[in-house]
Amino acid sequence: MSENINTHRRQILLGAAALSAGVLPAAAAAEPLKVGLIVPMSGPFASTGRQIEAAVKLFMRQNGASVAGRQVEIILKDDGGVAPDVTKRLAQELVSRDKVQVLAGFGLTPLAFAAAPVATQAKVPMIVMAAATSVIPQRSPYIVRTGFTLAQVTAPMAQWAVKNKMKTVVTLVSDYGPGLDAEKVFAKDFNEGGGKVVESLRAPLRNPDYAPFLAKVKDLKPDALFVFVPSGEGAAVLKQFTERGLAGAGIRLICTGDVLDDDLMASIGPAAAGVVSSHHYSAAHPSAENKAYVEAFGKANKGMRPNFHSVGAYDGMQLLYAALKKTAGDSNGDKLLAAMKGMEWTSVRGPVGIDAGTRDIVQTVYIRKAEATGGSYFNVEFDKVDKVRDPGV
Ligand code: PHB
Repeated sequence: MSENINTHRRQILLGAAALSAGVLPAAAAAEPLKVGLIVPMSGPFASTGRQIEAAVKLFMRQNGASVAGRQVEIILKDDGGVAPDVTKRLAQELVSRDKVQVLAGFGLTPLAFAAAPVATQAKVPMIVMAAATSVIPQRSPYIVRTGFTLAQVTAPMAQWAVKNKMKTVVTLVSDYGPGLDAEKVFAKDFNEGGGKVVESLRAPLRNPDYAPFLAKVKDLKPDALFVFVPSGEGAAVLKQFTERGLAGAGIRLICTGDVLDDDLMASIGPAAAGVVSSHHYSAAHPSAENKAYVEAFGKANKGMRPNFHSVGAYDGMQLLYAALKKTAGDSNGDKLLAAMKGMEWTSVRGPVGIDAGTRDIVQTVYIRKAEATGGSYFNVEFDKVDKVRDPGV
């Protein structure tokens, strides 16, 4: 590894000398910057990988395949989304065999946890684009997160429920890191605001059956049910909520935007109508930057609608390119990390920044309502909280 970095330094120096002599552009001498992108491209969470890959490709088409004199080369690996040991092995191979200088992707929390020690040992930046448990960046000083945290998007939902006079809520979450964070933060903020979480239900992450949980919620008859399930699972929850007649029983559904994932809105359809959720990105976000993004993304991917994971990836590339410009093409891990800390930019989701102390994303969280516009359902933003940091769990 260190030999590789030294070779690379020598080449940059050679490039700079050649440039000052007016012989060769520096780019011709520098070796490519390799990025190991590990995502689920198969299995139950394949939509996360598909969204991330599409966003990375779009970013590079729009911004060029080289930055600060370095050709950027993406090495895509499918980890299948369910086996942390596979993710870890892929990260190790990418670092030792392929000599990647950056790791990126990470569709689920256990997979990010598994790769963290590899990033620490190799001293390579690890850009977490999707996984959203609060504690992730504490697992390695080389982790930077460009997606979101469940705690960050859940707190504004609990505050909104208090403001809207809900008195009793049942929470239903997937039984692992991000779900437990959401459950804890919702209960804290809702109970502190004067409400009462009357029951906290946890569904398994693998092969969940939501029917018995929703039957229980119907019996408990709270004012509202708050739900977090990871992207890909929302349609199943909405289907059961509708079939079991919970809305008819006067129970309101509120959730994080993971449940009403833009990638799934077409298959969820009218079951989403009127559901209020909180999240950091909606394909309906009304900014010029986002309109251009949604259009370009659709054009390049047979009409596919970008979801929040795509935006975590697009901004991950934005962060990497900006950091490389700052280091003048030097891909030393510590230098890249230093460049990334405190970086701020205008994302398609709104203003974002990387907290220099926690290496976690700071962003606006929006409250949205699902509505049919132009013949299909979108999460339409109607309220927001600016500059939300991960509250920590
Ligand atoms: C996670 O495993 O951290 C995760 C995955 C998908 C989501 C949210 C969190 O939508």
